[in-house]
This record gives sequence, structure tokens and C-alpha cells, in this order.
Amino acid sequence: MKTVRVSASKNYDVIIDNGIIDRAGELSAKVIKPCHAAILTDDTVNGLYRDRLVGSLRGAGFETEVFVIEHGEQSKSDLNYIKFLNFMASKHITRSDCVFALGGGVVGDLAGFAAATYLRGIGFIQIPTTLLAMVDSSVGGKTAIDLEAGKNLVGAFYQPSLVLCDPETLSTLSPEIFSDGCAEVIKYGIINDRALFDRLKNPIMPQIEDIIENCVRNKRDIVDLDEKDNGVRQLLNLGHTAAHAIEQCSGFEISHGKAVAMGMVIISKAAAAMGLCPEEDYEEIRRLIEEYSLPTTCPYSASRLAQIAAVDKKRTGGSINLIIPYGIGNSKIYPVPVLQVESIFEMGL
Ligand code: NAD
Ligand code: GLY
Repeated sequence: MKTVRVSASKNYDVIIDNGIIDRAGELSAKVIKPCHAAILTDDTVNGLYRDRLVGSLRGAGFETEVFVIEHGEQSKSDLNYIKFLNFMASKHITRSDCVFALGGGVVGDLAGFAAATYLRGIGFIQIPTTLLAMVDSSVGGKTAIDLEAGKNLVGAFYQPSLVLCDPETLSTLSPEIFSDGCAEVIKYGIINDRALFDRLKNPIMPQIEDIIENCVRNKRDIVDLDEKDNGVRQLLNLGHTAAHAIEQCSGFEISHGKAVAMGMVIISKAAAAMGLCPEEDYEEIRRLIEEYSLPTTCPYSASRLAQIAAVDKKRTGGSINLIIPYGIGNSKIYPVPVLQVESIFEMGL
């Protein structure tokens, strides 16, 4: 069992252990008095892990209600948000009760936003079941839903009281979805952890618990310094300006993880072309991404990507903060005028 303590506006543990779902009740009862639990999950995870979570929570004295959404990004919607709030109201969930997110980043982001806003904020516990959610979305308190105009446009910073990662749940993920999470793992290596990047050249599964802990520690260190994303936390957006545009161009057919992989290749190649990143580091990044069966080429033009990036929520006034790798393990915030983004993407395509 590995525990990482996050010290943000709320202090909480991220606990990583095989089979931990079966101890969710006992561990949750240590941070929140057994109460009425509103569990949000999706239709895939529901069939796989709902009974174990419900059994564990009930065993520890929680009363449970389960709300199931369809799997997929389209479910992180205003409609499901309102439906879930109404569901909680209909079940008489009160201020002393708690939302449990059982699933990937879609479930976690939606459940977190509902927990942040229902009755102006109730308890929230994350039980991530994808690699991406374990290493990234369940930690740090970003919660959101999508609008037609773009992803994550409505949200709140709302930290959970506990995060329980059960690496055994990764065994039921498709290789495709597993590799989506690998993109975010590689991201931490490129940002500021050369040793992690090098470890990833060995098979990931035999070291998965250590890798999850390593990534959570990296994210924790950043969130502890800059919870509200005004500075150093923006490093976590490496590859994401292009990635969000790619996801949107594809009508969300291209997953977040694959889009991040393409975005990291684009920005590393552009950084090499601008003379900021050694060419061999760019090549190494591209090779590692390929080894994880992630895409390294992007089907959209620089002008389409730049058009979407121009209305990205990361824009401030006339400029946008890109994250540039100056080498593996050494990325920095690089503010550029919005009008220059297209030419930078062009260099990376
Ligand atoms: P997801 O939640 O859509 O899950 C991917 C698929 O895996 C779904 O079909 C789901 O049903 C299935 N699944 C989940 N767990 C499973 C399991 N154990 N076995 C079998 N199938 C399983 O996607 P994701 O990649 O986990 O998360 C992507 C979302 O996370 C995006 O909406 C993205 O914007 C968000 N995100 C948020 C943050 C943050 O800081 N809040 C960070 C990164 C990404
Ligand atoms: N995934 C980006 C962040 O948490 O800031």
C-alpha cells in the first residue's frame, strides 16, 4: 500500500493498493462519518465494480444510491449534471452526505462538479478506475462539465476528501484506454522527471503501483504550490493546447489521451525547430510515445488547431501560455501572442 498526502485547500490522502475497492467503506469512514452515499458511475464500470463498492460501503454503515451515466465524453454534459443533482435531491442527500465517483475522468469530473455545487458543496471521494484518472484527473481538485462551445468550460476547484486507486481495476481496461493513461504518465516525465521517463522504457505493468505513486507525487508537488492554476500548475498542460483543439476537431472521436500524445509530439517538434529543445530529445519523446501505441501524427492543419486554441480557456488577453520542453524533464511556461500559435503548430506538424 502506498499513500501520498496532498496539502491543498483541503488535506487528503491518495491511497494506492490492489483490492482497495473492497476496503472503500472502512477507509472512507475514517474521513467522513458513515452517511448517505451518492455513487456516480458509468454503464461499463457499473457492471464491473459497483457491487464491490456498494458492498464495502454498506458494510461500513453507509446507505448507498447509485446513478449510472452512459460511458464516454458526451456524458460530461449539462444534462447529466442536472439529472444527477435532481437524483440526489430526490434521494434526500443532505449537506452531511457524500458523492463517490467510481470510474474514469469523465465520471470523476462530473461527480466532482456536482459535489462542489449541490447544497453549495458536500463530501466527495474519488475511486478512479482508469490509469488516466489515477495519475491525473482524480488528484488536484479540477472538476468540470463540457459545453457545446468546448470542453471543461464550466467547473470548480473542489478537492476530494480521499482518493482510492485500485491498480487491479486496470486489468479490465481495453489496451486502447490503458494507453490513453500512458500519455499522461509520459507527460510527467517530459515536464520535470527524466528518471520517470527512463523507467517507462521498461514494461509498465510490473511497476504500475510505483509508477502511479510517482505520478501522483509529481502532481501533488505541483498542486501544493499552485492549486488554482495561476502559475506552475500550467506545466501540467504540456501538449494540451493542441490536444483540446484535436479533440474538438474530431468531434471527440479522438480520446483525450491520444490527443495529448499528438499534442506532446507537436510541441516537442516545434520546440526542436525553434532551437529550444535538443533534436535528440524530441526524437526520444516521439519514440516513447510510439512504443506505448499512441499516435504521433495529427490529421488536422495548424490553422484549424490554432483557430480553436484562440478561444481556449487558457488564453489570457492576447496571449496564451504554451508549455515548451527545453529537454526531457525540463519544461517551462512559454507565453506567446495568440497570433503566433499557428506558426508554432505548423513547425510541429
Ligand atoms: P473515461 O472516464 O471516459 O473512461 C474511459 C473508458 O474506460 C470509459 O468507456 C469507461 O467506461 C471505461 N472504464 C473506466 N474504468 C474501467 C475499468 N476499470 N475497466 C474497463 N473499462 C473501464 O476517460 P478517462 O480517460 O478516464 O478520462 C478522460 C476525462 O478526464 C476527460 O473528460 C478529461 O477532460 C478528463 N481529465 C480531467 C483532468 C482533471 O484534472 N480533472 C485531468 C485529465 C483529464
Ligand atoms: N490535468 C491538469 C491539471 O490538473 O491541472
